[in-house]
Amino acid sequence: MKIEDNVQTNLESDLALELLRVVEAAAIASARTMGYGDRKTADHVATETMRHVMDSVPMQGVIVIGEGERDEAPMLYIGEKVGRKSTDGTTFPEVDIAVDPLEGTNLCATGAPGAITVLAASEHGGLLHAPDCYMEKIVVGPACKGVVDLDAPVAVNLANIAKAMDRDVEDLVIIVLDRPRHEKLIDEIRSAGARIKLIGDGDLATGIAAAVTGTGIHAVMGTGGAPEGVITAAAIRCVNGYMVGRLTGYTPEQKERMYKMGIKDVNKIYTADELAPGKNIIFAATGVTDGAMLRGVRFFGGGVRTSSLVMKMASGKVRFIDTIHLEEQTGDMAIRFQ
Ligand code: FBP
Repeated sequence: MKIEDNVQTNLESDLALELLRVVEAAAIASARTMGYGDRKTADHVATETMRHVMDSVPMQGVIVIGEGERDEAPMLYIGEKVGRKSTDGTTFPEVDIAVDPLEGTNLCATGAPGAITVLAASEHGGLLHAPDCYMEKIVVGPACKGVVDLDAPVAVNLANIAKAMDRDVEDLVIIVLDRPRHEKLIDEIRSAGARIKLIGDGDLATGIAAAVTGTGIHAVMGTGGAPEGVITAAAIRCVNGYMVGRLTGYTPEQKERMYKMGIKDVNKIYTADELAPGKNIIFAATGVTDGAMLRGVRFFGGGVRTSSLVMKMASGKVRFIDTIHLEEQTGDMAIRFQ
């Protein structure tokens, strides 16, 4: 059975809501380590939890973007099969899955804003199998479709974004990863008059925020992870935004692997439609620490509260889901509104 045949008959059969459980559980696990200064443990518990919960999801899943190659990652490695096995002959949907169990491991380890747990799913072939190299990216919202170009001068891109958004360049806020490689880019953005928010990590979560009105972020520019780029593209397709990306910083081995995977032109500038070409994209993310769109995990006596984003491209559904997970259902448990 293909993913598109997975007709929703009730809430339980909705793959998007099944995948929500995966990111929620990973967020709760990693949030337990928040501020402990240990990014490896934060990432490890998110990965382990995501892997574990994935096996309760009725699907024939294959990891296409994950924690690395089989020989370097114990779980959620590229090619790993995930999902609940059918025991009654029911055929579960075939799904390609891209995961970033904890985007912003440092953010979680230091308690800084913007850490999320995230995954994207699609029918087979719907997500580019990008290697773990870098990607030059520009991510913008729906109003800016087609107006940015990776080869255009930064000032031209900013002028085009401002025009498309009917505002002055000075009114733009651009997110840039705080890295030495972005010195020139930062100078050029400042010279053009736009304002910048430098972030320590997390160009995926901020990329989605750039495509959503009201977040106060108008574009993400610069070079970040390629796997994050593909997952961002999946989200961008669900919110009708615009993104361009070009692979960079790859090793000769990665170039060889790209070639084998069908990426013949390594200098190609991809749009979101090409990075995540699937027709049935599902995206799910949960906040670990507070961010531009999602609140972080909050623990209270007897339960946990999470804030998530779940999107289904085919049905045009963008759901912000606020979940209270009660540890035990006691009669006098008080649920607070907001
Ligand atoms: P982690 O999730 O591995 O902590 O990295 C997050 C991140 O900041 C991404 O958001 C970004 O795309 C990438 O790392 C940038 O890589 P680098 O830290 O090598 O510049």
